[in-house]
Amino acid sequence: MSKSLVEVRGVHKSFRTGDHKVRVLQGVDLSVEVQESLAIIGPSGSGKSTLLNLIGTLDQPDQGTIVIDGKNLSMMAGDELADFRNRRIGFVFQSHHLLPHLTVLENVLVPLLARASRVENEALERAGKLLRRVGLEAREDQLPGRLSGGERQRVAVVRALIHQPRLLLADEPTGALDRASAAEVTRLLTELNREHGTTLIVVTHSEELARRMDRVVAMEDGVLV
Ligand SMILES: Nc1ncnc2c1ncn2[C@@H]1O[C@H](COP(=O)(O)OP(=O)(O)O)[C@@H](O)[C@H]1O
Ligand SMILES: [Mg+2]
Repeated sequence: MSKSLVEVRGVHKSFRTGDHKVRVLQGVDLSVEVQESLAIIGPSGSGKSTLLNLIGTLDQPDQGTIVIDGKNLSMMAGDELADFRNRRIGFVFQSHHLLPHLTVLENVLVPLLARASRVENEALERAGKLLRRVGLEAREDQLPGRLSGGERQRVAVVRALIHQPRLLLADEPTGALDRASAAEVTRLLTELNREHGTTLIVVTHSEELARRMDRVVAMEDGVLV
């Protein structure tokens, strides 16, 4: 039995724009252990987000296989895939994507409403606990517009964790933040990885953030080195 949570084997991905084909991933292999934290670095346009989106089941490879938590992604589709993504994988992006007309607490609960028409008490308690954990318990009834950039990103992290996913994917999570907020979000991601045992894959340009991960890999010419 392998202890890998994520197994990427021989993955290729190209994009076609007009009659032009861009080969972005050219045979990517990657294993990520349960509870590990991994940084993916590399120049802009090297395919880091493309790889993260494939691991996050938001897109499919042209070739190769991706297995997450023992499930081969190419064997799932439709509702099964959506349900898998919703329960097992949390996403944090550079931009927080909070809904401006919903409060902090409501934003955190949004992923739960994808599966049920009402939120269970247990999930509400978890939301409260996570918001306390990130120091935002006093802000839960406020709209995101009232928060700082760092606070909004902390809310986005809580939202990503509301289903207690086994895998957290973060694409440049500190890319839009000032130094102090970036340091705060970096610390938070590192601590949550340890406390909850959530496997973490983070794409980043920040040396600060990369250094805090268990392992760093670099994307170069469509492969990981
Ligand atoms: N949906 C898409 N359609 C066409 N080209 C894309 C698409 N997504 C990414 N690309 C191209 O793939 C390359 C890698 O992009 P990306 O994975 O976003 O790189 P990175 O995250 O490392 O900056 C870029 O040349 C980009 O323009
Ligand atoms: Mg990117």
